[in-house]
Amino acid sequence: MNVLVIGGGGREHALAWRLAQDPEVKAITAAPGSDGMCPPAARAAVDAADVDALVRLAVDGRFDLVVVGPEAPLVAGLADRLAAAGVAVAGPGAAAARLEGSKIFAKDFMARHGIPTARYEVHDQAATARRSLEAGRFEFPVVIKADGLAAGKGVVIAADLSAAQAALAEMMERRCFGAAGDRVVVEEFLQGEEASCMALTDGEHVVPLPPAQDHKRVFDDDRGPNTGGMGAYSDDRILPPGLADAILDAVIRPTVRGMAAEGHPFRGVLYAGLMLTAAGPRVLEFNVRFGDPETQAVLPRLRGSLAETLHLLAEGRLDHARLDTDPWPAVCVVLASGGYPGEYAKGRPIHGLELAGQHPHVTVFHAGTRREGERFVTAGGRVLGVTARGADLDAAVMRAYEAASQVHFDGMHYRRDIALKGLRRYR
Ligand SMILES: Nc1ncnc2c1ncn2[C@@H]1O[C@H](COP(=O)(O)OP(=O)(O)O)[C@@H](O)[C@H]1O
Ligand SMILES: [Mg+2]
Repeated sequence: MNVLVIGGGGREHALAWRLAQDPEVKAITAAPGSDGMCPPAARAAVDAADVDALVRLAVDGRFDLVVVGPEAPLVAGLADRLAAAGVAVAGPGAAAARLEGSKIFAKDFMARHGIPTARYEVHDQAATARRSLEAGRFEFPVVIKADGLAAGKGVVIAADLSAAQAALAEMMERRCFGAAGDRVVVEEFLQGEEASCMALTDGEHVVPLPPAQDHKRVFDDDRGPNTGGMGAYSDDRILPPGLADAILDAVIRPTVRGMAAEGHPFRGVLYAGLMLTAAGPRVLEFNVRFGDPETQAVLPRLRGSLAETLHLLAEGRLDHARLDTDPWPAVCVVLASGGYPGEYAKGRPIHGLELAGQHPHVTVFHAGTRREGERFVTAGGRVLGVTARGADLDAAVMRAYEAASQVHFDGMHYRRDIALKGLRRYR
């Protein structure tokens, strides 16, 4: 198989790394890829947002399978275009990608199909949203979400009415997210621990992937502003006994059935971001692709051929897939640039990469680096994802931090408490 991976972050490095282990895979190309994922991948200088150029690349390069990392090209219809050109693609078409591209679509879809989620209202006027809050229809804190894609910045948890008003004004009047904020979801604040549940589906059959937990805030103990994700771990115990099946039955399968029944079957990675509340799991959001950094902790646990599985998915034959999960947990610690998620410098030399990646159960995924002669330098906010597996969660955590401590670059910072909630709970 000749595989094309779209994207160039840590998630895509993990995909290329994992696909390269599958016996069917002869070659991997990443568009645009990154220096750090070569090898195993080769790079094609095509932007992940340039749908026309990606379709030309996939057709001309005679790729047997296209795996799409980021959501934007899916929402823009890349998978429809590839399928029309006869290229096997693991990713949903634009209509199905609305599950992520429009939070209003996702909420209304869940309401239509009885999928558990936070109580909500949709507003297209800041004034009506304000009146609803003033009338006490929601308690504080309340959650306000821009409808469209907002690069992970479109959700505000407002502590009181004035914070809510400020958020509504930002989104709907000052239009800081452009059209993505013209309509908003106002929803009830839920309490609990979050979990990321991903499943592969061809629109009918479902192959669940092991659960993961992301760490969104920049500082330890979930303090500071939100980021793209400062680390993740995957351990089967993230979901208490019985809950994995309950989520499949209450969330994943009804979503797959509902999308098919509404005429746009979902083919790809269905990611449910869940709040595990005292009353049961509730969907916070859907994503329509692999999570980042969750993928960096989940893929090292998969046994069997991911390439074959994703190809079966593209063909609508996922019932033939044989993919297992290794019981060993995995932990990914993100090493970030000084100042991230705010302003940060680039071009800082990275030391200790080889030493960090030496251990057989450690892999260092490149999220934002660039090769400069013989060395790598920083080129993004999230720079590296140091991932380790271990016989138990303690071992995986220790190994990941041991490896992380080998790496240095000016300004580097990372959270010291990745998987700590899990470690405490399982003890
Ligand atoms: N209803 C809610 N109650 C409590 N926290 C929420 C709620 N909705 C979202 N959040 C928090 O905000 C984060 C981002 O929201 P999410 O819906 O995942 O949007 P996005 O990932 O597109 O920014 C979640 O990971 C969660 O921590
Ligand atoms: Mg999210």
